[in-house]
Amino acid sequence: MTSGDAAEPGDVPRPAFGDDIESVLIDGPQIQARLRELAAQITDDYAGERLLLVGVLKGAFMVMADLARYLELPVEVDFMAVSSYGSSTKTSGVVRILKDLERDIAGRHILVVEDIVDSGLTLKYLLRNLAARGPKSLEVLALLAKPSSARPELRVRYQGFEVPDVFVVGYGLDYAERYRNLDCIATLAPAVYSS
Ligand code: IMP
Repeated sequence: MTSGDAAEPGDVPRPAFGDDIESVLIDGPQIQARLRELAAQITDDYAGERLLLVGVLKGAFMVMADLARYLELPVEVDFMAVSSYGSSTKTSGVVRILKDLERDIAGRHILVVEDIVDSGLTLKYLLRNLAARGPKSLEVLALLAKPSSARPELRVRYQGFEVPDVFVVGYGLDYAERYRNLDCIATLAPAVYSS
């Protein structure tokens, strides 16, 4: 691409990833279109309110950046980083806060922005932790959810897409810290896991 070309968010050159990508489940333009829809809904729901977006690092960094730009609200942003113990592709539910919020959230409208809800254990822990701080409201946006996360106690008010119960990468999601900068949601070739 030359410097004069109009860049679309969907234009990340995938050849950089060689043969690692098996299939693209959700492409870049589909993600952007869905985020615009969700942002319009959130803009309506919080009209006249002050909203604090809480992004869960690292996976939610792309959703946060794009969603925040589509919102027609004066939002503030903050981030938490959590680590959940487990294998490289499954969480165990034992969560540790690596980076906490910078400000008190008591009395604030909070929207937690998550990349993916898989078992839901990380989100369950986060919601319990944040609810104890006395926010005025506490809602969740998750770009992706897997069928196994369909638990009634997990209130994901704004959901982007449902993906099958397979490990996915891209748009913030990693495998061994790689593939976060893909513009789409993809599955990896089996050879990637055995190398
Ligand atoms: P949960 O606690 O099982 O819901 O998993 C939550 C976290 O695990 C997510 O925020 C992701 O960081 C990570 N994770 C779960 N499923 C996937 C996946 O398919 N690809 C990449 N990361 C995932």
